[in-house]
Amino acid sequence: MPDVAAEAARRRTFAIISHPDAGKTTLTEKLLLFGGAIQMAGSVKSRKTSRSATSDWMALEKERGISVTSSVMQFPYGERIVNLLDTPGHADFGEDTYRVLTAVDSALMVIDVAKGVEERTIKLMEVCRMRDTPIMTFINKLDREGRDPVELLDEVESVLGIQCAPVTWPIGMGKRLKGVVHLVSGEVHLYEPGRNFTRQDSTIFASIDDPQLEARIGADMLREVRDELELVQGASHPFDVDAYLAGKQTPVFFGSAVNNFGVQLLLDFFVRHAPAPRPRETTTRPVEPAEPKLSGFVFKIQANMDPMHRDRVAFMRVCSGRFVAGMKAFHVRSGKEVKLANALTFMASDREIAAEAWPGDVIGIHNHGTVSIGDTFTEGEAISFTGIPNFAPELFRRARLRDPLKLKQLQKGLAQLAEEGATQFFRPLMSNDLILGAVGVLQFDVAAYRLKDEYGVESAFEQVQVATARWIRCDDAKKLEEFREKNAQYLAIDGAGELVYLAPTRVNLQLAQERAPGVEFLATREQA
Ligand code: G4P
Repeated sequence: MPDVAAEAARRRTFAIISHPDAGKTTLTEKLLLFGGAIQMAGSVKSRKTSRSATSDWMALEKERGISVTSSVMQFPYGERIVNLLDTPGHADFGEDTYRVLTAVDSALMVIDVAKGVEERTIKLMEVCRMRDTPIMTFINKLDREGRDPVELLDEVESVLGIQCAPVTWPIGMGKRLKGVVHLVSGEVHLYEPGRNFTRQDSTIFASIDDPQLEARIGADMLREVRDELELVQGASHPFDVDAYLAGKQTPVFFGSAVNNFGVQLLLDFFVRHAPAPRPRETTTRPVEPAEPKLSGFVFKIQANMDPMHRDRVAFMRVCSGRFVAGMKAFHVRSGKEVKLANALTFMASDREIAAEAWPGDVIGIHNHGTVSIGDTFTEGEAISFTGIPNFAPELFRRARLRDPLKLKQLQKGLAQLAEEGATQFFRPLMSNDLILGAVGVLQFDVAAYRLKDEYGVESAFEQVQVATARWIRCDDAKKLEEFREKNAQYLAIDGAGELVYLAPTRVNLQLAQERAPGVEFLATREQA
């Protein structure tokens, strides 16, 4: 019988954060190749296409060239099991992306050597910051002319506010790219386009002082890189595993994903130093991964993965214990015991039925709308994992039907989209309006498209006088009732049945807060 602590210690669960076009897809594909999960380069892209074909609404993804959905890929690497959780790639910062980042133990940041730190990377970094997620950095496209590496590290340090510890250092760049030096092992790895796939397939010198090296890279280049290394080692930080694990320092790698170059050095370092699953907070106590009993939380819901069955898949991150196919688990929110039959695992080769899963793994639970984002499953204990918030939306629209007879379908569709976390959904106490809230404007397009595609509802979204929303909390029942009566015109119920204040202006919000001491106005709703 395998033991939970050992299985948990083998897991490395992470996500890639990057600005579109930096090379996330290419790097994902190479990582899967090294993991032996796919045979041929190009598979991730073709996988994307074939998946779009199987699920109609993903046609939107294709039309726009964006990845609206995210997925989970698992592959073995040496002694480790790596779980890569894909973050949605569209330019709007989505809550769905945030939630994926709550389900990982570390992240990998990909930066384009010519572009440096870009806007979306900054936003995603902020999210990682909130949880002190350890981050490794891959500076990609070294085969192209880019910016000065020292300048790039400075930019990461000053813009993202994290110390850089270069682990590999480039020898030349673009047409002059000769290889990288590994600053920890001292090895020099030569760049040989069309090769570099494995260690066996690469030319490696044990150190920069190897007498053969000069013949390969030239005396000028050797002198140049020696001077640069002296400078870099004097000015930058050496790798410090504790600073990395605390989210204060990022080890930096240089390479070219499309040429396989520098990727294996990154992966080797990653599986060695990236954190295994760590304890997670719940409403009552921290849960240790090595605990024998299963626990986990749902961070994502996806509808209609299989168009033949209009069901939903809830993605649950396992936090402790062992999952075995067919076992019964306690769904804390409903208080019911459910059988986890037909759960999915996400081996990179394909979805398959999960036989077992361990802390750090993700399983997909089929359901018909009974499971929501943020839900906890255990083997009986009534605890809930915390830290999976809903953000107060900043954009609001009123849904209007073109065919009034389809109100039922509209309500059903909106409720489902809200449940998946695609948009938020509010029903004002005093009117029959259906109001959608989002943190990014693209979410409305996705909603309109899916309502039409999946529910046959033609809808339009029109402007509505709402500036921001706050979840209302008050322990004093009498005070809450009073508040409800006085402010009914601004109050609404969200998709989960919680009371929300929809403020027409920021000033209105401020006044309402001042007039109701003892009532809390929350900008995020933690799902418990
Ligand atoms: P993304 O998922 O982060 O959006 O980026 P993706 O991997 O799709 O890469 C964006 C573009 O950058 C792709 O080119 C890809 O081939 C290219 N690329 C990725 N890694 C490297 C690299 O190391 N060097 C160079 N020179 N290019 C790289 P594309 O023309 O948009 O697509 P494709 O037709 O080449 O697939």
